[in-house]
Amino acid sequence: MIHSFKPIKGDVAWRSPSNIAIVKYWGKYGNQLPQNPNISFTLSKAYSETSVAFQPKAIENAEPNIDFLFEGKENPKFRDKIVKFIDSIKSILPFLNEFDLSIQSSNSFPHSAGIASSASSMSALALCLIDIERQASDNFTDEEFYRKASIIARLGSGSACRSVYSYMATWGYSASIPSSSNEYAIDFSAHIHPVFKTYKDAILIVSSDEKSVSSRAGHALMNNNLFAEARYQQAKQNMEALLPILKTGDINEFGAIAEQEALSLHALMMCSNPSFILMHANSLKIIDLIKQFRQEKDVPLYFTLDAGPNVHLLYPKSEEEKVELFIRETLSAFCENGKVIYDEVGTGPVKLK
Ligand code: PMV
Repeated sequence: MIHSFKPIKGDVAWRSPSNIAIVKYWGKYGNQLPQNPNISFTLSKAYSETSVAFQPKAIENAEPNIDFLFEGKENPKFRDKIVKFIDSIKSILPFLNEFDLSIQSSNSFPHSAGIASSASSMSALALCLIDIERQASDNFTDEEFYRKASIIARLGSGSACRSVYSYMATWGYSASIPSSSNEYAIDFSAHIHPVFKTYKDAILIVSSDEKSVSSRAGHALMNNNLFAEARYQQAKQNMEALLPILKTGDINEFGAIAEQEALSLHALMMCSNPSFILMHANSLKIIDLIKQFRQEKDVPLYFTLDAGPNVHLLYPKSEEEKVELFIRETLSAFCENGKVIYDEVGTGPVKLK
């Protein structure tokens, strides 16, 4: 499929969103392969925009040059990460040996907002790189394009592989999901009830501090966690249970699984060695208040969390008014400077250039 690379120059740009997992990926093996199948909502307002200008390298026998600007400024820490990542994928994308790259990236949310940017930034970069490869190749179907972008995004940050698809994407082999694979995510949007296509995710920023444990270290801690096998089993069961729920649109069953998944992820970190408590007192307070509100007002409001203290509120669009009033009147008092990001399920990446 891939032919010898034509010496072209040009630039490409993609916007790619973040995602929030409902069944979590926590624990990996080999080259960034998940221990269990997982599934996420693709978000809408939290995204990265990345552009890559490429031209045949200036000095033929030298390593290609990579310039990197984050939000218009040099950022040596991010540049190092990108240079290492590009080095690691040269065997899959050999054209990277031949081109100087000038990369610029920015996020729709402040870097210090406490929401993970690796899924949006790595998927945006992967889409740009595969777009460059596509310009030199014939017979590159859309399906191949997104699949390859998903593989490359996964190698940058596991969960990023799900961000290349709209609404919902699943990653990891599951006997009940045809064409599922540990190597890439697949588009799951054809198998979900319309209620999930407009689902809301309000992200309550409890703290914007850097995470106390990187996800790399977190995944590694699973290798010696006594509960690891039981956890992978639980995640597989939750995936099986979720598939018919996604089809019928049972939002209470959906919410129960989302909450159990989030609390299991945090419990695993509490009982790893060394152990980490990733929630803050205000995260627990918010969780308590959500449960109370759900019972008293009979509103299907549920929560999930990533590996950090911020709480994602999941609710159908039809409950938007009631939930958002509750956030403003009650929950925002437990957020850092009252900060809430009102996001929702979205239609996936967009090619900008
Ligand atoms: O993609 P990573 O390595 O940052 O891991 C992400 C892990 C969670 O966000 C906690 C769960 C998930 O499936 O996204």
